[in-house]
Amino acid sequence: MSHPTYKAVIPAAGLGTRFLPATKAMPKEMLPVVDKPAIQYVVEEAVDAGIRDVLIIVGRNKASIGNHFDSVPELESALSTKGDHTKLGKVAHSSQLADIHLTRQGEPKGLGHAVLRAKRHVGDNAFVVMLGDDLIDERDPLLPAMLAVHERTGASVIALMEVAPENVHLYGIATVTETGDDDVVKVDGLVEKPRAEDAPSRLAIIGRYVLTPDVFEVLERTTPGKGGEIQLTDALQELAADADGPGVYGLIFRGRRYDTGDRVDYIKAIVQLAVDREDLGPDLRTWIKELASGL
Ligand code: UTP
Repeated sequence: MSHPTYKAVIPAAGLGTRFLPATKAMPKEMLPVVDKPAIQYVVEEAVDAGIRDVLIIVGRNKASIGNHFDSVPELESALSTKGDHTKLGKVAHSSQLADIHLTRQGEPKGLGHAVLRAKRHVGDNAFVVMLGDDLIDERDPLLPAMLAVHERTGASVIALMEVAPENVHLYGIATVTETGDDDVVKVDGLVEKPRAEDAPSRLAIIGRYVLTPDVFEVLERTTPGKGGEIQLTDALQELAADADGPGVYGLIFRGRRYDTGDRVDYIKAIVQLAVDREDLGPDLRTWIKELASGL
């Protein structure tokens, strides 16, 4: 499936404080998950959905992200001289994946503020937002189904996932009505990081969005919300409540997802993805069994 008209926006300008000191000089999106930085999985997911134009919103440590998606002539010629074509292929792959653009978010004023930085690049078209620390397993593709819902409804579409009650305070939470279409819901309301007792449901917004360009106009007047940050959830709540617009739809995701912004989930993601790999899985599985028997 090819979607050449969509652009993807990857906000990667957060402070990543949960990973300090690792994120002191490096964005959390560059932390390796097995042998690739988290953000490369996200760019690959966009490319798999047919997207070729990717805008990354970067913060104070932007250099490593830019360098990763650029070519490195001295490394490439050293590997070429050695005749190591496998490693050469790995190095070249990330610089040939997509058209990568970088825009700076001067200050980390929130996810909504980061998305607003994409306005000029995106123009008057629907676009995709993918959080750079949120990984969707490539075996459970999500974006193509979200784009299909957008194309059917003309509305913004968010990805939702059922989370445990003790975790609702970490997410934007949605109130929804069924549409009669499997796993597609109409979003009636959204609230950012509610307390468990105030949460209207357990359906959490995860890091994939298809947004209509009217979100920019809403973000321009969205005032700081939870945590003093300009929240994308607040802007989407306004679009969902607008009776004159197409509203907001949700697609409930039931596949494998890894939140690499959280330390425990980050470690789980590495183990899960490595165990499933042919080159690393057998050794790792043996070691995990030994480890578990001693716990
Ligand atoms: P998070 O809230 O998970 O990121 O934002 P954070 O603030 O960096 O994390 P901690 O809590 O301090 O560890 C979700 C996504 O939005 C981006 C982040 O980079 C992440 O991908 N983001 C957040 C921005 O790009 N700019 C912001 O101002 C805030």
